[in-house]
Parts: sequence; C-alpha cells; structure tokens
Amino acid sequence: MPATCVVGLQWGDEAKGKIVDLLADSHQFVVRFNGGANAGHTVVWGDRKFALSLLPTGVLKPHVTSVIGNGVVVYPPRFLEEVGKLRDGGVPVGANLVVSDHAHVIFPYHMEEERVAEAEADGKIGTTGRGIGPCYQDKVGRRYGVRVGELLHPTHLRERLKQIVPVKNRLLTAFANGHTDALKTFDANKLCDEYLGYADQIRPHITDTARLLHDALKAGKQVLFEAAQGSLLDVDHGTYPYVTSSNSLPAGIWSGTGVPSRAVTRIIGVVKAYTTRVGRGPCPTELLDDTGDRIRKIGREFGTVTGRPRRVGWLDALTVKYTAALAGADEITVMLLDVLSGLPELKICTAYELDGQRVDHFPSDAFQLERCQPVYETLPGWTEDLTACRKPADLPANARRYVDRIGELVGLPVSVVSVGPDRDQTILMK
Ligand code: IMP
Repeated sequence: MPATCVVGLQWGDEAKGKIVDLLADSHQFVVRFNGGANAGHTVVWGDRKFALSLLPTGVLKPHVTSVIGNGVVVYPPRFLEEVGKLRDGGVPVGANLVVSDHAHVIFPYHMEEERVAEAEADGKIGTTGRGIGPCYQDKVGRRYGVRVGELLHPTHLRERLKQIVPVKNRLLTAFANGHTDALKTFDANKLCDEYLGYADQIRPHITDTARLLHDALKAGKQVLFEAAQGSLLDVDHGTYPYVTSSNSLPAGIWSGTGVPSRAVTRIIGVVKAYTTRVGRGPCPTELLDDTGDRIRKIGREFGTVTGRPRRVGWLDALTVKYTAALAGADEITVMLLDVLSGLPELKICTAYELDGQRVDHFPSDAFQLERCQPVYETLPGWTEDLTACRKPADLPANARRYVDRIGELVGLPVSVVSVGPDRDQTILMK
C-alpha cells in the first residue's frame, strides 16, 4: 500500500503546493495531517486562482478525495469560506472533501488567547494569529479541547461550551493583565448557536478518515500526504520555540491520520533555491541587504496568510541536510530557481562557525544556533531568464551547476527543478 509524502525542508513556503498539484493527477487521495489555516497555498483552476489555507491542495481535482486528517485543527468559518469561494468559482466541492471527526475545533477564544499572548513582548513568537497554538494546547491538555465530531451533538456541545467558556474568559482576563480595553470575552450560548450553524453545513463532510484511508490503501488507491509548514517549524525537531504547534515532518502522518508510517514509501523533500522564514527565530543565512531585498521582490516573498514580508537568505545546505534526514527524504525538488537569475554570484551555506570552531551539524541547541555564523561556498551566477527552460539541457551551465551542488551537499538526487509558478515551468531532472 504505497503512499507518498510531500514535505518542505525549510521554514515553510517552499512552494510545496506546486509539487502536490503535479502529483495529484496520479493520486486518488490528498491528505493534510497537521496545522490548520496557518498554511497558505495558491491553487489554479482553469484561468482562476484561489488562495487556500485550510483545505488540501487536491480539492480542485474532481477525481481526488481531499482529506483533512485528525491532526489538523479546523476553524469552521474558514472551512466554509474556502468551500464557498470554490463553489462560487465553479469548482464542485461535495463528497470529495472530508474532515476527520477527531480533528480539533478552533474557537474565537483561541485566537483571542493568542492575540493577548503575542502582545507580550517576551512571549512573542510571530505566529499567524489563527489560534493554532492555543487549540493544540487544549487538545493535549484534554480538559478544554472540542473535536469536530462533538459539533454534531447539540446538547453535549452546549454543555461543553458552558464549562469551557467561563474558564476561558477568566484566563483571558488574567492574561490581559489589566489591559482589558480591547479584550474580547465570550458567551457560551451564543458561541454554541453559531457553531451549531456551522455544524449543519459541515456535517456531510465529517467522517472517520482513518478508516477511509485504511480502506483506500487496502484497495490499492494512491494516497498523497501534504505536509503543511516546513520541517524547521516542527514542534519537536524545529527551531523551538519559534515553531508551529504540530509535527510538520512526516512523523506527523501516523498520529495525524492513523496511517502507519510504513505505508509511506516515497518522501519528496521540497527546497526553495534560497531560504525564507516568516516570524521570529534564528535564520543563520538571513540577508539584511540589497540582495535580500531583490530576492524578496522578485520572488514575491510576502506571507500568503498574513502578508508579512518574509525574511530572505542564502540557501542553507547544512539545515536542509538535517531536515532531509529527519524527514527520511528520498529525493529533493528545487523550487523558484528562476528568482536567482541576474545575481553575479550565489552562496550556499555548508557549515557554521561558532566561537571560532567549525560546526558541521545542525546544533540541537537553539541558543547555539542563534550565535552561529554561516560558512559559505560561492558559486558563479547566471544572467539568463530561466522561466522558459523545460528540460535539464535548457538550463545555463551555472544554473545546472548550482542545482547539482545542492544535490551533492544534501546527499540526495534532485528530481525536479521549478522555474516559475505554472505547471509547465517544471523541469524533470531524471
Ligand atoms: P503558528 O503556526 O501560527 O502558531 O505560527 C508559528 C510560526 O510558524 C510563525 O513563525 C509563523 O510565521 C510560522 N508559520 C506557520 N505556518 C506557516 C506556513 O505555512 N509557512 C511559513 N511559516 C509558517
């Protein structure tokens, strides 16, 4: 029962959606297993574009069943908004979109909790503000978590919210620490009525997705797992605490869908030709100069969810080697190579220097990582526009050399190079 996973090997925004979109043609299931509406991907339907945050990329393919697994945190208004936009645009969305009854529900108090926490200078992570962290906290804490399946039981839901909401209001007031002018508190009954309204609309999509996927795999269907965020944002292995609150590495598939890891036989690591990061936290190769500004502008490096400018840097091969190992990647794809055209030379970080010592591995201590200086290898750039390249031989020699060097440094074959957002701006390297 072979399944494939597409995973970003940096800090997210590696253009995973394009690879998922290409692969979705040959898969019957596309599955999200982590995160929520903190992800952002633009998907194309004919000549129309849709910005999705919560729904899987596969939702635009009529032959694909798109699955929101139990490891995802679901904000029902966002779910309905995205479904509505797709339907308005002529995309049929019905039984081809399912959501796990075990997925946890985001309520507005989660977002308020996050807003108040992020307002504290010391507690700032630079989150997307979508209530992701507080919802996962409630899931793991067990006392205040609500699953999607519970939305279908009105009396039960009202009782739960009557228990939870007063506690949340007290917590919010305490967190606000006297700054209560803009603080939102909540009414359990009103919230319950609102969510029961959403439940009525989401009901046809709610199911036991673990069983659905087991049956699909047994029947020999092709299943594609779409990791959200990037490996360095993984709550266990990323640059903690500047991470998201889920396992964005393929390790999250087992817990986030119920599909055992041995079912996944192909893992594709997606790498941007340079580095970007949104939010706070270490980023050793960050470019705070004109080159960084140029890459940000040409690569349109602004967050899809929050619109924030992304931090930009040279490619860090040392971190990609680390995340490729954690992900168990079999191959890598190099994305947005076209953005680097016109730079006289390119740098790739191959090691760090810490207190005068060379470091060849990713430091597991975030405090050390903060102090690491990148050691670079410099390669010649190219002037040619790459956006019309379609096969390896079309690439200028220096672009080919750059790609080959990334593969060598990471120790994995480069299977795909992307030279633009369109499907045909894709070079199969094998
Ligand atoms: P949260 O996931 O909203 O809690 O945000 C935690 C960190 O992960 C912040 O630095 C966000 O900017 C970052 N983050 C979350 N989702 C994404 C994503 O899809 N792409 C890039 N960064 C993300």
